[in-house]
Amino acid sequence: MTTKTEVLSENAAGIAAAVDILRAGGLVAVPTETVYGLGADARHDHAVARIFEAKSRPTFNPLIVHVMNVDTAREFVEWSDDADRLAGAFWPGPLTLVLPLKTGTGLSPLVTADLPTLAVRMPANPLAQTLLQAFDGPVAAPSANPSGRISPTTPAHVLAGLDGKIDAVLDGGACDVGLESTIIGLNDVPRLLRPGGLPAAPIEAALGAPIEICAEGDPLTAPGQMASHYAPNARVRLNATNAEPGEVLLGFGPIDGDLNLSRGGDLIEAAANLFGHLHTLDAKGAPIAVAPIPDTGLGLAINDRLRRAAAPR
Ligand code: TXA
Ligand code: MG
Repeated sequence: MTTKTEVLSENAAGIAAAVDILRAGGLVAVPTETVYGLGADARHDHAVARIFEAKSRPTFNPLIVHVMNVDTAREFVEWSDDADRLAGAFWPGPLTLVLPLKTGTGLSPLVTADLPTLAVRMPANPLAQTLLQAFDGPVAAPSANPSGRISPTTPAHVLAGLDGKIDAVLDGGACDVGLESTIIGLNDVPRLLRPGGLPAAPIEAALGAPIEICAEGDPLTAPGQMASHYAPNARVRLNATNAEPGEVLLGFGPIDGDLNLSRGGDLIEAAANLFGHLHTLDAKGAPIAVAPIPDTGLGLAINDRLRRAAAPR
């Protein structure tokens, strides 16, 4: 998918254009104090699917939702006293909090990769703040670089990796911190899930308690890798061309079933529908057969997710 990538200036017209793009389900790279984020409306399945496509992410890693204030964060997560302490001390700023996701928030399940937790952050960059206020909604944003490449700290870096794949970049100059946010998990005891722009010592001081450090390779640091979180209740059979007796069929393209990820064979549409369709079919209580998905583009991430769903447990 090729698009003309606009560079939007740091002024009222630039912000208005960025808001219009977000409202229309488009992708805008946004400066934050850490790195440029690739922003989309976090409630818009198709827009969030396009993030993964633009980055060529081979897996559906969960994304950070950027909010304009604590009240907005509280609409989406179960807030806690520790969250209050840390947000009080460090928001806005380079700190992301992972908290239990509330139900019925309207967020796309692709944002959390269908996990029961959500990463939220209130960025300090004034342009990011202005945009979040003008948009008045949650913005999902991973770093605005192709998967596996270095995070971008200038609009030129963003364009070097994503020109033609995203709708716009909002030009806020160079990022101050230049390193991604520190991620703290607060769904049980406080855990450092990713070291980043905010050191651990002041975080421990604000909590009045030590934080557990998750080592590199610890499954908790990479929730996208946790197979068990992804499994539906039902057994899943892949590369099916038809349903066996008793199965429900999740179709793709010409292989039609009880539901179809994308009749036209569009992988962005398929990704946008993936988690929702799996939940709907799982509710029927029957084993799920899934049509073959091409292993190209977003199909890589879709197949990664489906293999986890089908893995023996
Ligand atoms: O500074 C930053 O955090 C930048 C700017 C744009 O805000 N964003 C960023 O996003 O670095 P990204 O997608 O490159 O990294 C997000 C990290 C991933 O490692 C992901 O696994 C983790 O956050 N993450 C997201 N949701 C999570 C969750 N529910 N539980 C644990 N980790 C989560
Ligand atoms: Mg990144």
